[in-house]
Amino acid sequence: MKKIGVLTSGGDAPGMNAALRAVVRKALFEDIEVVGIYQGYDGLIKGEFELFELGSVGDIIQRGGTILRSARSPEFMTEAGRQKAADNLKAEGIEGLVVIGGDGSFRGALELSVYGIAVACVPATIDNDITGTEFTIGFDTALNTVVEAIDKIRDTASSHERIFIVEVMGRDAGDLALWAGLGGGAESIIIPEEPLAVNEVVERLKQSSERGKQHSVIVVAEGVMSGDKLSQLLKEEADVETRVSVLGHMQRGGSPSARDRVIASRYGARAVEELQAGQQTVAIGMRNHQIVAYPLQDVFETKDCLDMEMLKLSKELSI
Ligand code: F6P
Repeated sequence: MKKIGVLTSGGDAPGMNAALRAVVRKALFEDIEVVGIYQGYDGLIKGEFELFELGSVGDIIQRGGTILRSARSPEFMTEAGRQKAADNLKAEGIEGLVVIGGDGSFRGALELSVYGIAVACVPATIDNDITGTEFTIGFDTALNTVVEAIDKIRDTASSHERIFIVEVMGRDAGDLALWAGLGGGAESIIIPEEPLAVNEVVERLKQSSERGKQHSVIVVAEGVMSGDKLSQLLKEEADVETRVSVLGHMQRGGSPSARDRVIASRYGARAVEELQAGQQTVAIGMRNHQIVAYPLQDVFETKDCLDMEMLKLSKELSI
C-alpha cells in the first residue's frame, strides 16, 4: 500500500487527535503517504484533502476535539454521495482509509468498502458502545469528567441536604452512566439496559434518609429520559424534590486522559498495519488488554452486553 487517507467522523471524542497522530506517524514510518481528510465523510465528497507530513500532527496528542474536524454527512447517506467519495479517493491514489469514529462512522466505512476501498476503523466515542471492543477512545476521559462533576455536585448536595439528578450522555448506551455512577458512588444509576423502576429509586432514597443520610446523587443516562423528566416523575409519583444537572457537551471536551492517549496510539498504529497487511474491512479494538483486529461486519451483527454485575455492585455499595 502506497497511500492511505484518514478522517474523523461523528461526535468528537477526546483522543481522536492522538489516534490521528498515530496513523500519520506510523504510516510515514512505514513509507506510506497519508492524506488527511477534513470534515469527515463530507470532506471526502468535497475533496477536502491535504497531504500530511510528520509535522502536520505535531503537538496534538494532548488536545481534545479533532484537528480534522468532524461532521455528520447526509450526502454520504446517498449512493451518489458514496460513489463521489470513492471516486475522489481513487483519483487521489488512496487505496485504504482509516476511519476514526463511532458506530455510524463504521457503518459508512462498510458501505464505502463496497466501492473497492480498503477500510480500517478505529473506535472513538465517549459512548463506549461499539461491539467487539471493550474500550473506545474518549470513554475514559469522559468518564473522568463525569466523575469529577459528580464529586463537585455531591459537595453541594451534602451541604444543602439535597437530592441531585445528574444527566449523563450516551445516546442509547448506559456505559458512561454506569461506570461514572459506580466511580462516583451514586445512590441510584438509571440506564437503558435496565427497565426503570421509580419505586425502587424512591425506596432507596427513603432507606438512606431513615439512616440519616439526607443527600443523594442519582445518575441517569440520557437514553432513558432527561434529568428534567425524571425530576418531574419523582415529584409526581413520590413528592420527592430534586435538583437537576445536565452535563451536556462538556463530556465530549477536554484533554484526553493518559489512558485514552495510549489506546488511541495503539489503535491508530494497528489500523495502518492492517491496511498494510491487505485487510479490506477491519475494525480495531481491545479485548483482555490486547489490541485486536476483527471483521468490520461483526460490529453490526451482535450487540455487546453491558456488565450488569457492575450495576448490581453499585446497588450493594450504595445502601
Ligand atoms: O455519540 C456521542 C454523543 O455525544 C452521544 O452521547 C450524544 O447523544 C450525541 O453524541 C449528541 O450528538 P450531537 O452532538 O450531534 O448533539
